[in-house]
Amino acid sequence: MPDLSTNYLGLQLKNPIIVGSSGLTDSVEKIKNLEDMGVAAVVLKSLFEEEIIMEMEETIHTMTNQNFVFPETMDYMETVVKDDLLLKYLELIADAKKAVKIPIIASINCVSSQKWTYFAKEIEKAGADALELNLFFLPSDNLRGEKEIMETTFDIISKVKGKIHIPVALKISAFQSNLIRYVQHIDEAGVEGIVLFNRSWLPDIDVNQLVVSSGFVLSSPSDLGNTLRWVSMVSGRVNCDVVASTGIHDGAGLIKQLLAGAHACQIVSTLYINESSQIRKMTDELSKWMEVHEFNTIEEFRGRLSQANSGNPAAWERVQFMKHFRNFI
Ligand SMILES: Cc1cc2nc3c(=O)[nH]c(=O)nc-3n(C[C@H](O)[C@H](O)[C@H](O)COP(=O)(O)O)c2cc1C
Repeated sequence: MPDLSTNYLGLQLKNPIIVGSSGLTDSVEKIKNLEDMGVAAVVLKSLFEEEIIMEMEETIHTMTNQNFVFPETMDYMETVVKDDLLLKYLELIADAKKAVKIPIIASINCVSSQKWTYFAKEIEKAGADALELNLFFLPSDNLRGEKEIMETTFDIISKVKGKIHIPVALKISAFQSNLIRYVQHIDEAGVEGIVLFNRSWLPDIDVNQLVVSSGFVLSSPSDLGNTLRWVSMVSGRVNCDVVASTGIHDGAGLIKQLLAGAHACQIVSTLYINESSQIRKMTDELSKWMEVHEFNTIEEFRGRLSQANSGNPAAWERVQFMKHFRNFI
């Protein structure tokens, strides 16, 4: 049997499948079931920066009658987290750690480095194996250009890394100008992992009601290509680990991402569509494929088709547009 283990954020994973942050990981029972179904790690559903700040401000206001929160007050609050939502999150980490053997990665959705970063320490104390920061900058703010986004990103990383010792991964959106530069900047700031990509909410229009409605929440296998392109291009250009997320629905998607250079893959939509038995199907498919191609370990083929290693870097670039679109008549 081939060895499916891989290393991500310094954590030894029994296979490259991680369940991504979502409602699939919001209780100990669900996490236990995912472990039983063969998953190697989970990322907990995200807490939002606003939730942390709001709850802390309420607590501080009750305790001190102040409306303004001084940074030193936040440091003091480290020892007195009282809010229900935050406590429940810390309890989920601690209880999950007791109930399962797989790594538990906590998650915070953030847009700034303001006030909330003290909570990273609480997450570490609760026993999380790592912290994933989901950075959400939709580039529609004309006051916040590339420079400001880079600065904010750097600030978030340095504040969080200054408070904790567990590994930190950044989950980013595909909508950034010059992604390679942005990712290299993140890497230089010292994170241990990068997750490509987060999935934005997609709007739609209801033509009967003439209102804005919600597009599909779940991804489809056709979303794989964008992630594959950037995993391939980023892999080998950064020191941190690279995780693929978005559009991985089956064993073939998993194998492609590993060939492009991913250390591991996060899956969500396929589990909503196909249920948790999909995890075993995907690891079985990977195992069989490795046998056929006579690979004993993932490291023997991981990144073989990344842009840096494929021997044909142009295969991932503009020339393909000319080749495949021009002849389409
Ligand atoms: C129902 C649902 C809830 C999600 N909740 C979160 C969340 O709380 N935090 C987060 O970082 N990503 C969240 N995501 C994004 C997923 O973690 C993942 O990045 C995205 O769905 C792409 O992976 P997929 O193609 O396998 O679905 C959510 C996705 C779905 C479908």
